[in-house]
Amino acid sequence: MEKNCDKGISRRSALKRMGLLMAGAVALGMPSLASCSGEKKKRIILYFTATGNSLYVARQLADEATELLSIPQLVKQGRYELEADEIGIVYPIYGQMPPNMVRRFIQKARLKAAYKFAVLTYGNMQFVAAGIWDEVSRKSGNAFDYITSILMVDNWLPNFDMNEQIKIDKHIPESLERITADIAARKHEIPPTEERARQLFDRFIRDRGLDPEVGYLMHSEDYFVVTDACIGCAVCTEVCPRGNYELTSTGVKTKGDCDFCFACIQNCPQKAIKFAELPDSPFLAHGEKNPDARFRNEHVSLWSIKEANRQ
Ligand SMILES: Cc1cc2nc3c(=O)[nH]c(=O)nc-3n(C[C@H](O)[C@H](O)[C@H](O)COP(=O)(O)O)c2cc1C
Ligand code: SF4
Ligand code: SF4
Repeated sequence: MEKNCDKGISRRSALKRMGLLMAGAVALGMPSLASCSGEKKKRIILYFTATGNSLYVARQLADEATELLSIPQLVKQGRYELEADEIGIVYPIYGQMPPNMVRRFIQKARLKAAYKFAVLTYGNMQFVAAGIWDEVSRKSGNAFDYITSILMVDNWLPNFDMNEQIKIDKHIPESLERITADIAARKHEIPPTEERARQLFDRFIRDRGLDPEVGYLMHSEDYFVVTDACIGCAVCTEVCPRGNYELTSTGVKTKGDCDFCFACIQNCPQKAIKFAELPDSPFLAHGEKNPDARFRNEHVSLWSIKEANRQ
């Protein structure tokens, strides 16, 4: 297995070592995966993100030798076979389930690693999310050893005002410290799913007309409208992991299968993307909590969301 010593490291890795990534890792007391005296473990972390929470967590669980890979980019490249000593995945839960793209990815993937961990970001409530990932990943032949969750800002616009969400202390550093230590110790743990929680989930899914084998898979043209505040900056064309936005001679148009991730509506710098008026929708009958409030994780740049998602 490859050894990695300071002698001869690239300028990029040297800068990375000095940079934020390591600062974060040191602050969290994260043990390095690499050592000059010992064997170097290769860790890959896969992620899906719309507003940066999951990318932030993925970065915090990485050291300078970790390969961070965006799932939308892997899907775009048709790259489904990955091998490392440790493979992690970080994604936001949508109605307790993985984003549709993450589900499709894991169903096709062949992940070869001695240790696999999953960290699910969420904003308010998770009660069956770990069990669902266990089921989905196991069925695909990619069973995970450790599944946990981390409470972050809730980016579900119909129920939450982003300006209020960012004020709440969600104890993120403490959670990251716990998860970092668990992964370093290669902890094996999958939280059990209580029967009562499963029943609640089944009702939630039924009431919203969702298919539990699919999750949120909508059509963007049904849910999003672009207002006159649009300046044609093209951000929406780059942050959508499905490439659903297009600048046309008559304005910005959106169309196509949609994960309902909210990357478009949250990252539009003009707040020109709004939800369509849908009084009969189980999600949007009451519109959104605050159409003037939008969110992106404070540690993640717009550029990073574009890099992660552009098609
Ligand atoms: C469609 C959708 C459904 C969501 N469902 C849940 C949920 O069931 N429980 C929860 O606590 N948070 C839920 N959230 C909030 C996100 O999981 C959370 O904000 C996540 O950290 C966002 O990650 P990101 O910034 O990487 O995109 C949902 C968000 C969206 C867009
Ligand atoms: S991101 Fe917003 S302002 Fe920019 S082109 Fe898209 S809709 Fe218009
Ligand atoms: S249209 Fe918006 S919500 Fe749908 S996948 Fe694209 S960015 Fe996500």
